[in-house]
Amino acid sequence: MDKRDLISKALEAKKMAYVPYSKFHVGCALITEDEEVFTGCNIEISSYSPTICAERTAIFKAISEGHRRIKAIAVVGDSDHTFPCGVCRQVIREFGKNAKIIIANSEDDYEEYTLDELLPHSFGPEDLEENKEKKDV
Ligand code: THU
Repeated sequence: MDKRDLISKALEAKKMAYVPYSKFHVGCALITEDEEVFTGCNIEISSYSPTICAERTAIFKAISEGHRRIKAIAVVGDSDHTFPCGVCRQVIREFGKNAKIIIANSEDDYEEYTLDELLPHSFGPEDLEENKEKKDV
């Protein structure tokens, strides 16, 4: 699966967005290090806070099916180059520190970023590992 195919899957997923409140559609497709593809769309809820972004829908589908390492993730939305929100950047950090992040308008119009570019100086699982070695105070 190349980048164009992943973007195409994200565009397909975007059609499933349930967005009666914002009317802003987002689609996501990711490929795991073991070459499985998962897609997701944003889903909005009338009380607003339970709303979930397309990226987290796709990532949580992957994790819940036992695939924990993201190799690449493509995002498409209704704005010109829709970037993942802060919360989704942190979730990508958990499962795809080295993932390629593809921000696309179409298969022919995309940009590629690293997580470090989108979330510099990030906090992650390793920070907690370091802390475990310390004695309780
Ligand atoms: N949204 C996403 O799905 N992904 C993002 O990274 C940006 C925001 C959704 C959430 C909400 O349904 C709509 O876009 C407007 O914020």
